[in-house]
Order: sequence, then structure tokens, then C-alpha cells
Amino acid sequence: MSLVISHLARRFGPTPVLRGIDLAVEQRELIALLGPSGSGKTTLLRIIAGLDWPDAGGLSFDGDDWLARSAGERRIGLVFQHYALFPHMTVRDNIAFGLSVRPRGNRPDRAGIADRVGRLLRFLQIEGLADRYPAELSGGQRQRVALGRAMAIEPRVLLLDEPFGALDAQVRRDLRRWLRGVHDSTGTTTIFVTHDQEEAFELADRVVVMNAGMIEQAGRPDEIYDHPATPFVARFLGLTVEVPVAMRAGRAEAAGLDLTALPRRAIPDGPATLFLRPADIQPLPDPAAPFRVTEIVSTGALLRIMARDDAGCRIEAEIPRRDGRDLREGQPVALRPVTGQIFPAGGTLAARAPATPVTLKEAFA
Ligand SMILES: Nc1ncnc2c1ncn2[C@@H]1O[C@H](COP(=O)(O)OP(=O)(O)O)[C@@H](O)[C@H]1O
Ligand SMILES: [Mg+2]
Repeated sequence: MSLVISHLARRFGPTPVLRGIDLAVEQRELIALLGPSGSGKTTLLRIIAGLDWPDAGGLSFDGDDWLARSAGERRIGLVFQHYALFPHMTVRDNIAFGLSVRPRGNRPDRAGIADRVGRLLRFLQIEGLADRYPAELSGGQRQRVALGRAMAIEPRVLLLDEPFGALDAQVRRDLRRWLRGVHDSTGTTTIFVTHDQEEAFELADRVVVMNAGMIEQAGRPDEIYDHPATPFVARFLGLTVEVPVAMRAGRAEAAGLDLTALPRRAIPDGPATLFLRPADIQPLPDPAAPFRVTEIVSTGALLRIMARDDAGCRIEAEIPRRDGRDLREGQPVALRPVTGQIFPAGGTLAARAPATPVTLKEAFA
């Protein structure tokens, strides 16, 4: 266990921004903190970095109380979306900076610094940029250099706050793979903040989903993708179709929907809500079915099919264009979800609820 965050709480004026965060980050782990804007990701990162202090809770690294330590003592590498490089320094000098300002005694000599910077430039594949100034770099190159600068001090924890947020999609994808490779060879414990789920899922060993100052769910990417623990996580991960169903002996039932492909679940009999991804619903022409296609929209490779029944239930399905040749507006269709997530009326699955929910009152006691 390296970094342990317990019951961490922070408010700004009357507004609680972190409401009892519990998270243990293992050595060498790459964690993605994923959540919408305003969910408290940056605030949490700033507290870990020692740029801000919590109102309550604990933060330790290998048993050492980090709340009693300054930012410098924690030895953290930081990369922000707009953490500007020093414009008057070359790439080489930017990367050397963290080492050259160390207190004497702890500072390598000039040759030692030059050697370490040279190795880092080669390792990060930015040797060719060494003598350029930041203004002569593309956005993607700047963030590679920013990572180099953060890594030069051999940080115990690397914190990245939406580092690729300002870059275009292709550059982001390239940098993501590059960063994953860098992490795999250095093993630096890393927390990567993003609001982009694709980025989080492709990059991280473990994804931590935040909402309104709390952790909704933490787990391996496929675990979270296949089994979102709360309605919030389900919606955030694209299960945007919500259908009221009735549970009976572990099966969900809804008029006009074929739910036999869904596995039985340990949920009490009674009303529940089924969350689905549009891409997990197959519409099949069926003259006897109660749903009718109301609209077909092409997004290029995909067709978006809107359907509704006489009771006003509206369902959106998304299918590859080639699978939709037989579908017409006005046509009756049977809808068959191949997978989905069911939540009992009023919320979270008991078995997957957070282990130790901390109430506001406890957090601020
Ligand atoms: N220094 C501050 N003073 C007052 N409110 C703040 C401060 N920093 C952040 N907030 C508020 O805290 C909430 C969470 O912000 P932040 O941690 O930046 O979220 P995220 O990084 O997930 O977008 C936001 O509502 C933001 O306006
Ligand atoms: Mg932020």
C-alpha cells in the first residue's frame, strides 16, 4: 500500500466539495480519477500534492502522515492541462529545473543533472526537442516535456490533471499510449484526472468514478463498464436508456420488451429500473410488437433508432448501419436488450454499495 486517503473532506465556504473520500492507491498503480466537471477531482489532487489542506480526514504515504509534510517534502510530480513551461528556458533547462533548485547536499552536480536529463530526453523520445523553447513546440510536445519535468525529480507519486485536455483527439490517443508505456517502464505510482471515459478506461489499471465530492465506484475498467454500481455511474458510462421494470423472482419484466437475455439478479420483487446502452438493444421487425419506430437517424457508421409504445415509453437503440436495412419509420419492432443493469427503485445495489459511506455530519465532526 503506498498512498492512503481516508475520510477526506473539504469545503469552500458553505459548499462541501469533498465529502468523505476513501481510497488506497497501490505502489506502481495507474489510477484514473473520472468524473464530470465540478466533482472535486482537482481539489483532491491539490490536497494530495500539498497545495491545499483538507478540513477533515487523513492522507499518508507508506505510513508517513503527509498532512504534516510540505509539498516539497512529499516529492510529487505534477502535470496540469495549462501548467506552462518556463518560456525563457529550453526544453533541456525546463526538465533540469526541479533538480537544479534542490537544496545543496540533495542536488546532483552539473554533470549529474545533465546526464539524468539526457537519459530522460531519450527515454521520453524528445531528444530532438532539447534545445527548443516552449513557443517552438506543439501542444502534444509541450505535455511530453511537462511530464519530463515532473519525472526528473523521480517523484514518489505522479499527479496528472487533465494533461491532454486541450489537445485534439488523435494527439490525445497517441499521448495516452505513450504515457502508458512510460508508466509501464518506470512503475511510478500515478493518478490521472480526466472527464473523458475513453481515456480513463484505456489508460488505467483502476478507474475511480467521482460525483459531487464522493467516490461512486472504484474498480478495474471492465468491472465498472460491465457492472456500474450506481445509477450515476450507469448514466455516466452511457447506459442512458432507463426503463421501468417489474422484478419477479430475479427476472426483470416489462410489457413489450424481451428481457430473457438478461441474467437473473438478486433484487427484491417489485418496481426497479433497467439501465441500457442504446448499442445493447436490438430492434427486430415484428408485426405483433407494441413498439413502433418513430425516427431513424444516421450518424455515419451507425443508425439511431427511436421507438415508442402506446403507453409513451420511449427507447433509443443504436445499430450498425448494415443491420438496419429492413427498418422503416412507423414499423412495429420487438426490442431485445442483450445486456443491461438493474437498480431497485430508489437506488444503489445493496451488494455493491460503498463499504463505509461517510455522512456529512461524520466528515465534519
Ligand atoms: N478555491 C476555491 N474556492 C471556492 N470554490 C472552489 C475552489 N476550488 C474549487 N471550488 C469549487 O469546488 C468544486 C469542485 O471543483 P474542482 O475540484 O475543480 O472539480 P473538478 O476538477 O472535478 O472539475 C467546484 O464547484 C468549484 O467551483
Ligand atoms: Mg479539474
